[in-house]
Amino acid sequence: MPLKIAVLCSGSGSNFQAVLDHCLAGDIPGEVVGLAYNRKQAYAAERARNAGIPAAYINKKMCGGADAFEAALLRQLDEWQPDLVVLAGWLEILGKAVTARYAGRIINIHPSLIPSFCGKGFYGHFVHEAVIAYGAKISGCTVHFVTEGADEGPIIMQTAVPVLACDTPDTLAARILPHEHVALPRAVKWFCQGRLRVIGRTVHILEDNLQEDKL
Ligand code: GRF
Repeated sequence: MPLKIAVLCSGSGSNFQAVLDHCLAGDIPGEVVGLAYNRKQAYAAERARNAGIPAAYINKKMCGGADAFEAALLRQLDEWQPDLVVLAGWLEILGKAVTARYAGRIINIHPSLIPSFCGKGFYGHFVHEAVIAYGAKISGCTVHFVTEGADEGPIIMQTAVPVLACDTPDTLAARILPHEHVALPRAVKWFCQGRLRVIGRTVHILEDNLQEDKL
């Protein structure tokens, strides 16, 4: 039985699309049951509509503040009853209510090698700007479990990507994004296959030769 996956997006949703495509192709034993988005112009919502997936617009200002926003998000997730919540370019810090209810079942993709260039204020363009300003030679992406703090949960997988002297935030983001489109679906697949075991801060991926590791 495929696991039910709910996705949260704030932007274009290319990572959402990557997960969706691998679910539809059968690489991931999962089914995307809903998308929640918090920015009206998020193209991710268009992607959901094109795929016939319920898309719920939940915006903090519209809800009247952080607590009401959190409650509305929780209500929507509880309606979908997901086994896994995937944050794919979600630009809000999840509150305690959601992280507690879905503890151990929330995964996020971040466009740097955590614990570098992460946490409050490090999202999207700002991450790559900071990497270049620091003169780092390697960046990349990290898929991790979500806990109460921002970008602090146990790391599931990371991919390293070189930083070039001529890089701008846009060229670096463009070099990392395709690796995100592999890393996130792969981590979601492992979760859906029941192959992730967290011991302390370390995430162990159980090898299961029966599974076709196409992805
Ligand atoms: C990605 O770089 C992701 O790492 C970051 O925001 C960007 C989202 O891109 N959280 P998209 O919306 O998945 O296309």
